[in-house]
Amino acid sequence: MATLRAVDVIGRKRDHDELSVEELGFVVGGYLGGQVSEGQMAALLMAGVLNGFSDAEALALTDILVGSGATLDLSALPGPTVDKHSTGGVGDGTTLLVAPLLAAAGAQVVKLSGRGLGHTGGTLDKLESIPGFRTVLEPAQLTGIARDVGCVVAAQTDELVPADRALYALRDETGTVASRALIASSVMSKKLAAGAGTIVLDVKAGNGAFLETEEQARELARLCVRIAEAAGRRSVALVTAMETPLGQGIGNALEVSEAVGLLRAAPRAGRRSRLAEVALELAARGLALARGGGAWVEETRGELAGLWSSGDALERLRAMISAQGGDPAVCDDPGKVLPTAPVVREVPADATGWVSALPARAVGEIAAVLGAGRASKGDPVDPAVGLELAVDVGDRVERGQPLAVVHARSDAAAQQAADRLTTLVAIAETAIAPAPTLLDVIHD
Ligand code: URA
Repeated sequence: MATLRAVDVIGRKRDHDELSVEELGFVVGGYLGGQVSEGQMAALLMAGVLNGFSDAEALALTDILVGSGATLDLSALPGPTVDKHSTGGVGDGTTLLVAPLLAAAGAQVVKLSGRGLGHTGGTLDKLESIPGFRTVLEPAQLTGIARDVGCVVAAQTDELVPADRALYALRDETGTVASRALIASSVMSKKLAAGAGTIVLDVKAGNGAFLETEEQARELARLCVRIAEAAGRRSVALVTAMETPLGQGIGNALEVSEAVGLLRAAPRAGRRSRLAEVALELAARGLALARGGGAWVEETRGELAGLWSSGDALERLRAMISAQGGDPAVCDDPGKVLPTAPVVREVPADATGWVSALPARAVGEIAAVLGAGRASKGDPVDPAVGLELAVDVGDRVERGQPLAVVHARSDAAAQQAADRLTTLVAIAETAIAPAPTLLDVIHD
């Protein structure tokens, strides 16, 4: 074969050709090794974003990314091993429920999570609001806690998928994130490297998600499942709505507190929680698939609801927090253990009617401006601040009734957040039926 040159590979993508495994490997490997320039790598990414990468290219790229670093070996765990990934959203604390639920059912979850950026929250930031909680763990600690407790949630290690880290940073700077193939290969390379036999995905669609339309989310979900299966893993994806924040808490400690509160109650007791609904479904689908052949989702759903109501899932969360150095008393009384903000203020409704819109992205941005999120990678987050929504789309509200509670560092910050929220929450004169949250299930 003729000697490859980066400029020729870029030209082929510019001219809509499908690149071979060798060509992709040559450019990505060359970029990491310094033989391919940042300009060349960025040009190839942009050509791919504009002209499209095929599914075959996404599969090849995933293999190249996984092969760039170490992988976790979970074979010593009794299993089944299950991993969960969400494409990110607002008020999405599902990991805090799914991991202990699966652990309570006898599965092992080694979940490597990320931090929040922009309007989206990150699981590591949420867990680090628990005093003492450690997210940086060695591979032996990860597997040790997974074996003893059933679940562990920690930071991605530097050794895993270094090529994704380098490429993602470049994509972030060059406007080349929004590609189905690039997102799928980036997400799935990290999941494959983390070693679980079953991967359950929550692909979000809506204004608070990476991909806004349901069809785009479905296509991304299909490609992710295909990549997992090509690598010999079991995978199922839910497509879920991210038009409105999933949970009521938006902010790090507030989301931990909500998750603990939900685990302390039976899943369907009291007010309907869309967060609990999505978490139960993710765990039930993941568990059924992990158990293979004869397991039915109806059965795992019932089993997990039982482990939820009995408090077993809460005990798994407590054990995990303890094993990772955090204060387990957070599971008894989150308000006493978690950091609190000095200013706590209700936001009253300015009209009577039915809540008709509560846009996820804009609500997430309010929490980020309060300090719960970060504008740039590496910025610190404030664990205590954020919003607690008191209403959801479809709810009837009376003028003066609280729409939310703002937790802020100062009066001025609380006022600004309250004013913004009041303009965002649309109140209609006629009743509104809430849209469904579970939109689709993709098996292959
Ligand atoms: N999350 C990732 O890990 N990678 C992407 O490309 C997009 C979201």
